[in-house]
Amino acid sequence: MKHLSLEFLIFFASSALAATFGIVDTYQGSDFLNRFDFEAIPDPTHGYVNYVSKSTAMADGLVSVSGNNFTLKADDTNIVSSSASGRNSVRIQSQKTYGSHVTVINLAHMPKGCGTWPAIWEVGPNWPNGGEVDIIEGESPNHATLHTSSGCTMPSSRDEAGYVLLSNCVSGSGSNTGCGVAFTSANSYGHEFNLIQGGFYAMERTTTEVKIWFWPRTASNIPSDVKNGASSINTNGWGQPQAFFPNTNCDIGSHFAPSNIIINLTFCGDLGSATYASSGCPGTCQCQSLSNNPSQMVNAYFLIMWLKVYQ
Ligand SMILES: *[C@@H]1O[C@H](CO)[C@@H](O)[C@H](O)[C@H]1NC(C)=O
Ligand SMILES: *[C@@H]1O[C@H](CO)[C@@H](O)[C@H](O)[C@H]1NC(C)=O
Repeated sequence: MKHLSLEFLIFFASSALAATFGIVDTYQGSDFLNRFDFEAIPDPTHGYVNYVSKSTAMADGLVSVSGNNFTLKADDTNIVSSSASGRNSVRIQSQKTYGSHVTVINLAHMPKGCGTWPAIWEVGPNWPNGGEVDIIEGESPNHATLHTSSGCTMPSSRDEAGYVLLSNCVSGSGSNTGCGVAFTSANSYGHEFNLIQGGFYAMERTTTEVKIWFWPRTASNIPSDVKNGASSINTNGWGQPQAFFPNTNCDIGSHFAPSNIIINLTFCGDLGSATYASSGCPGTCQCQSLSNNPSQMVNAYFLIMWLKVYQ
C-alpha cells in the first residue's frame, strides 16, 4: 500500500508539473510584421483570394499596428479585376515552430462578411504527417479540428464542453474533414464574438493530448493567468476545455511535429462556399457581389491584442 500511494503521489506531482508552462514568446503589434512571414501563395483550399506580399500588405493597409494591437484585413476598397485570383488578403506564418506548448490569443475582432473564411491554426511539416490543429476556423459557433496521418481517431464521449462532429482525424487522402468539435457558445465566432470585443482562445498540445479553451471577454471565469498574459501559466486551473483530444486511440506524440502558427483570411473556398448560403448571403460564393462590393468587407479583419506561446 505504501508503494502504491507513493506512485500515486509521483503521478500527481508529475501531472501537475506537466500543466505548468513558462512564457517563451510574446507577439504583439509589429512582432506580427517582423517575426511572421507573409506568404503570397495560391490558396490550397481554392478560396477566392489573392494573398499579397508584406510590402503590398503594408502599402495597402491590409496590415497595421496601433500601440500593441495588430490588424490584418482583406482589401475593402477595390473592385477585383476579372483576371485576379480573388480579393487581396493576407496569410502570415510564424518563423518559429513549437513542439509541446500552449498558445494563448487575446483577440478583439475576427473577420466577418459574406464568404469570409478566417483561420488561426498550427501545422507541422509534410502535411498531414506533421499534424494540424485548427484553433479558430470559419464556422459559427467555432469549430476546432485535428488533421493527422493514418491511425488517429477520437472517442465519441470525452471530457469537453463542445460536441463531437466527426471522430476520424485522418486527412490527406479522400476526406480532409478531420475530427472536429463544435463549441457551445455562439459568441465564440463571427458577429457575436465581435459584439463583445472577442475574448481569449487557448490551445495546449503535449505528447498525450490537445485541449482548446475559449473565454468570452465578458465571462467572469477567465483564469487570471490567461487574462493577464502571465509569465507562467497552469492549465490545470482552466477548467473543462471546449475541445479535448486525448491519446486513447491516437498517439498524439507521433502524429504531431513542431508546428508553425498560421493566420489567414480567405473567401469562399472549400469550406466558405459550404457555409455561404446558410449565413444569409446573396447568390453563390465567388459571386460578382464578392468582387464588385468591397465595402461588404469593412468588417473582414482580425484585431489581435497579443498572442503568447508557453512551453
Ligand atoms: C487557411 O486556413 C485553413 C484552415 O482553416 C487551411 O485549411 C487553409 O489551407 C488555409 N489556406 C492557406 C492558403 O493557408
Ligand atoms: C486596441 O484594441 C482594443 C480593442 O479594440 C481597443 O480598446 C484599444 O483602444 C486599442 N488600442 C490601440 C492603441 O489602438
